[in-house]
Amino acid sequence: MNKDVIIACDFASAEATYAFLDKFTDVKPFVKIGMELFYAEGPEIVKSLKQRGHKVFLDLKLHDIPNTVKKAMAVLSSLDADIVNCHAAGSSAMMKAALEGLTRPDGSRPLLIAVTQLTSTDQETMTNELLIDEPINEVVMKYAENAAKSGLDGVVCSPREAAEVHSVCGDSFLTVTPGIRFADSEVGDQKRVMTPADAAKVGSDYIVVGRPITAAADPVAAYKRCVKEFMGVEL
Ligand code: C5P
Repeated sequence: MNKDVIIACDFASAEATYAFLDKFTDVKPFVKIGMELFYAEGPEIVKSLKQRGHKVFLDLKLHDIPNTVKKAMAVLSSLDADIVNCHAAGSSAMMKAALEGLTRPDGSRPLLIAVTQLTSTDQETMTNELLIDEPINEVVMKYAENAAKSGLDGVVCSPREAAEVHSVCGDSFLTVTPGIRFADSEVGDQKRVMTPADAAKVGSDYIVVGRPITAAADPVAAYKRCVKEFMGVEL
C-alpha cells in the first residue's frame, strides 16, 4: 500500500510554484495542483512538474455528462498525472466513463478518486438547497460506495471518515485526506482537523497538506516532519 504526503501547491503561478519547490533540493515531494494553478498555467504546469520529478495529483474535480468527462479524462491522462479526480455526484455512469477515458491503449492509467460531498457543504445546505434529506455521513458513505462499485480507486474525504470508508469500501480503497494540521500549528479556515500522526492511525492513505508546509518558516523541515509523523520515515 502506497502512503504519502501530498503538498497542496495552492499558488497563483508557475513562477511561485517553482520558487517554492526549488527549496526542496534532496527530495521530490508529491504535489497537488488545483484549479487556480491549472487554469492560470494550463497543461504545461503538469508536464513540467512531472519532468522535474514530482508525482502530481491533478485536483480538477470533473463533473459533467459522461461523454464529456470521458473525453476530458482522455486529455488529462495524456499529461501523465498520477492521481486525478471527479465528483461522485456526477453518477456511477459518469465515474465509469471517466475511468474509460483515463485508460490508455496499453491499459495503464492514473489513479482516479472521487469527491463525495465537499467539506464546505454542511447538513443544512444539503437538506435545504440540494434537497438531500439523509444524514451527511450516510451520503458520504453511499457516494464512496458508488465510487468503489464504479471501479474507482478511492475518495477524497476527511481523515475522520477514513476508517468508515475503509470498512464500507475495503482496505485497499484509497482515502486521500486534507484537513491536516500539526498539533502546534494554526488551524486557519479548516474546521475539523487531524495531525499527520493521527491520520496515520485512522488509516489515511495519502494526506494532503497545504499551509502547514507552504506557509512554514522552513517548508522543507515542515514537510519532513509531516513525513516522519505520517509515515514514520526520517528523510
Ligand atoms: O492549506 P490546507 O492544508 O488547508 O490545504 C488543504 C488543501 O486541500 C487545499 O488545496 C484545499 O482546497 C484542499 N481540500 C480541502 N478539503 C476538501 C477537499 C480539498 O481542504 N474537502
